Amino acid sequence: MKPRVAILISGRGSNMLSIAHNCAGGILKADISFVTADNPEAEGLAEAAKLGLQTHVLPYGALPRAQAEDRLDSLLSASGTNWLLLAGFMKILSPEFVSRRSGRIVNIHPSLLPSFPGVNSIKRAFEYGVSITGVTVHLVDEMVDHGRILSQEPVRIIPGETLESLEARIHSTEHILYTRTLIELLDSSRQPE
Ligand code: GRF
Repeated sequence: MKPRVAILISGRGSNMLSIAHNCAGGILKADISFVTADNPEAEGLAEAAKLGLQTHVLPYGALPRAQAEDRLDSLLSASGTNWLLLAGFMKILSPEFVSRRSGRIVNIHPSLLPSFPGVNSIKRAFEYGVSITGVTVHLVDEMVDHGRILSQEPVRIIPGETLESLEARIHSTEHILYTRTLIELLDSSRQPE
């Protein structure tokens, strides 16, 4: 049986869409159980629905985090989901939630961690003047943008390029790296049938 993954987003959802296309195309052998967002306006939710994926909104706006996470727990259990993939999810999961699903939550971050954790990482790396930045895929632990690194891909800043150009190249790199890492991760954790 294919592993089941749920994807958490907050905005555009380009990483979620790339994973969805790769699942549909058989490149990534996983089923997407649902896509969910903390933000009902997340563009990616509408895009996921257009692909026929099940979508949900977590009640972060109306309820405390613990209750939004209870809802997420119920969705994950009811759908038999094995892996939780963060793809631009802007809320911080509680340490309790993370420890319940330790080793089963994956995140993508647009820098070479541990450099530039947190928000606006591409811009901060660009403005700092680094010559190499990149993308990290990692398991999520109780700290923010932290946990065992699964893969990293460097992106060299081209002298004279704009922030927009760097952002575009980082996002293209993310789309390739996330699926490539998931293929290896899901394969290595597959139980013999
Ligand atoms: C990506 O850069 C991801 O690394 C970061 O948030 C961004 C989400 O972009 N965590 P998108 O919503 O997948 O287009």
